[in-house]
This record gives sequence, structure tokens and C-alpha cells, in this order.
Amino acid sequence: MRIIILGPPGAGKGTQAETLCKTFNIPHISTGNMLREAVEEETELGLEAKALMDAGILISDKVIVGLVEERISKSDCVKGFLFDGFPRTIPQAQALVDRAISIDAVIEIHVPDQVIIERMSGRRMHPGSGRNYHIVYNPPKIDGKDDITGEDLVQREDDKPETVKDRLKVYEDQTSPLINFYSELFKLEKLKYIKVSGTSSPEQVSSEILSKLKEFD
Ligand code: AP5
Ligand code: MG
Repeated sequence: MRIIILGPPGAGKGTQAETLCKTFNIPHISTGNMLREAVEEETELGLEAKALMDAGILISDKVIVGLVEERISKSDCVKGFLFDGFPRTIPQAQALVDRAISIDAVIEIHVPDQVIIERMSGRRMHPGSGRNYHIVYNPPKIDGKDDITGEDLVQREDDKPETVKDRLKVYEDQTSPLINFYSELFKLEKLKYIKVSGTSSPEQVSSEILSKLKEFD
């Protein structure tokens, strides 16, 4: 199973990815999490990416495609994978086509901008794993601590309201054309394409995704 989750910042891609990856037993490949790890470890890529990420600007297609190619060559990807936050531009999606990396399903999560801005201010993240929480909608068992490791949660640098607005603009300009790109492949019966609203609870969104995927069986 090879899945892409598509949607604006804060749509709940990372949140839904956790459930789907457990259900299908596939690795969660989040380019955002990989980049944040590189920033944390102060690698060459991390040093290059930090300022761009903090400002909500995309990293170059060449760098991202290289990163993803290397990741999916690992043995845990043999049975499939879930891409979260990739592809994010038409050239990134085209790079998959050019390399004959086929995709089984694209899941689009739709959430209105206003809801997103409110959500981001309450997001908390576990830096080690990329697990996401929300202080109201998806709180950790112990305030400020990761459920699995008990380590501290942090706020993401790019979750400031001004930066979130810039990220929404970047999504609109550079990523939303992928909706059309994958809808066309759906019409050609190259993949499954489903669209869900991301405004109900995380559990309801997951069950809607799973039931829509089943309709194709
Ligand atoms: P990335 O980390 O991918 O960020 P993003 O796409 O902007 O998305 P987010 O992670 O902010 O949101 P999400 O949809 O995962 O939502 P979440 O589940 O956390 O990218 C960051 C940066 O890295 C980019 O700006 C760019 O610079 C760079 N980058 C990454 N990939 C790249 C690429 N391919 N090319 C170029 N550059 C790249 O949920 C959000 C909050 O809402 C959480 O608090 C959560 O608990 C809560 N929540 C989730 N679902 C619900 C629900 N149903 N109801 C209520 N609350 C909910
Ligand atoms: Mg995410």
C-alpha cells in the first residue's frame, strides 16, 4: 500500500498518518519530520533548511526528491509507505511518475483556513518522534508530556499565526495544483482518490478515510 496524504498545513495529515500507518503496517514518511530531525542534528541539510522552514518557505525540489528517494530505498518500505507532506509541488509529483514510483491512493483532507489558524496555536509536538497533540482537541495524558516517552512537548517555530498565514499561501500557490494532478490520474484509473473533511474529531476523520478506501475493494 502506497499512500499520499494531501492537505494544507494543520489539516491533520500527521495525526491521520499515525492511524493509517498502524492499520496498514507501513512506515510514515513525513518530509517535515525528516527536515526537523536534520535541523535538530545540525546536519548540512538542517542548517540549510532551518531558516526556510521557520518562514514557511519550501525547500528545493531537488533536495526533497533526493531525501525521499534515499528513504524509500530502505527495506521497511518494501511493503509500502505513507507520504505526509510530500509531494508538495508539481515537479515533486512528476519526479515520482518519472521514476515509475506508483501510488495506490491519494487522500485529500480539507479544512477551512480559519479552523487551521486556530488549531496551530494549540498544537504541541514531541520532537523525538514528530507526534502531534492539541491542548484542547487531542491533549496528551499528562500536560506538556509525550504519551509514549514522557518527554517534554514543544511548540513548532512555524506555528506563529503570521507564519501559518504564509504557509497557507504557499499551499494555495504551490501544493493545491496537486489536487488536479492526482484527480486526473484517478480519472485514468491509475490510483484511488478520496476526499474527506478534516473538521470532525480525529477518530471520525480516520473512520471516514478507512470506509472510503474500502469502497474501492
Ligand atoms: P510539514 O511538517 O509537512 O508541515 P505542514 O504540511 O505545514 O503540515 P503540518 O505538519 O503543520 O500539519 P498536519 O497536516 O500534519 O497537521 P497535524 O496532524 O499536526 O512541513 C513543514 C515545513 O517543512 C514546510 O513549511 C517546508 O518548509 C518544509 N517541507 C516539508 N516537506 C516539504 C516538501 N515536500 N517540499 C518542500 N519543503 C518541504 O494537526 C495540526 C493540529 O491540529 C495538531 O495540534 C493536531 O492535534 C490537531 N488536529 C488534528 N486533527 C484534528 C481534528 N480532526 N480536530 C481537531 N484538531 C485536530
Ligand atoms: Mg505534519
